[in-house]
Amino acid sequence: MSMFAQVRKVTTHVLNEMKLRNEKIAMLTAYDYSMARIIDNAGIDVILVGDSASNVMAGHDTTLPITLNEMIYHASSVMRAVKRALVVVDLPFGSYQGNSKEALSTAIRIMKETGAHSIKMEGGREIKESIERILSAGIPVMGHLGLTPQSIHKFGTYVVRAKEEAEAAKLIEDAHLLQETGCFAVVVEKIPAKLAKRVADELTIPVIGIGAGHHVDGQVLVLHDMLGITQEFSPRFLRRYHNLFAEIQGSVQAYIGDVKAVDFPNEKEQY
Ligand code: KIV
Repeated sequence: MSMFAQVRKVTTHVLNEMKLRNEKIAMLTAYDYSMARIIDNAGIDVILVGDSASNVMAGHDTTLPITLNEMIYHASSVMRAVKRALVVVDLPFGSYQGNSKEALSTAIRIMKETGAHSIKMEGGREIKESIERILSAGIPVMGHLGLTPQSIHKFGTYVVRAKEEAEAAKLIEDAHLLQETGCFAVVVEKIPAKLAKRVADELTIPVIGIGAGHHVDGQVLVLHDMLGITQEFSPRFLRRYHNLFAEIQGSVQAYIGDVKAVDFPNEKEQY
């Protein structure tokens, strides 16, 4: 058992305390039981069941196609593994943007059917009503600003957001709005480090960055990217801790070789 297994469960309150004592928050994605078990046992603070599952688990080009039922499947698999981390689940594209009642029933389905602790939504002022309605049901909400992948067709590109003054000003305004509305934290994705620092300094809730420099309250990465399972995606902000693609491929090739050579199974590996 790792030392982290005895540590108290991470809650939104714990994340706030971490910000107050300047302890960085470590967050990663997970979409299945086995990976969630490994990263929870390793001591990760927050697990995001991200709609990036659409890319890394299902092979889509964008996060748009993933459905609510698919997100619920991923989130309930993760929840069966997690003992310590706070689990956040992305509301999928199209399930909350236009209609706050639909947003609430989406969030309720996720909370009821998966046992997750909170949800995440992309956007600022445009989705204020949906956020308010979900919060009024007692469901903790994490915001997400900057490069919000569900809006990729509006942006037209995955380049850094909010480099221009007008977009930076809107992002700062949206960050304050998310905090005032009652969000417990906000993710800022692929924005200039200076802007991310300003947001983290001005907000009292934790600001978690991805491609937003280190002057924020925590970091998030997609697990399959940092483990080197995905190969094509190599933005500047991504640190690869492994090349699991090559390692797994090597193991599979060794297995194929053993089977073909009738070296597997051997005498000890049979009944
Ligand atoms: O879906 C996801 O993985 C995310 C992170 C990139 C923050 O939203």
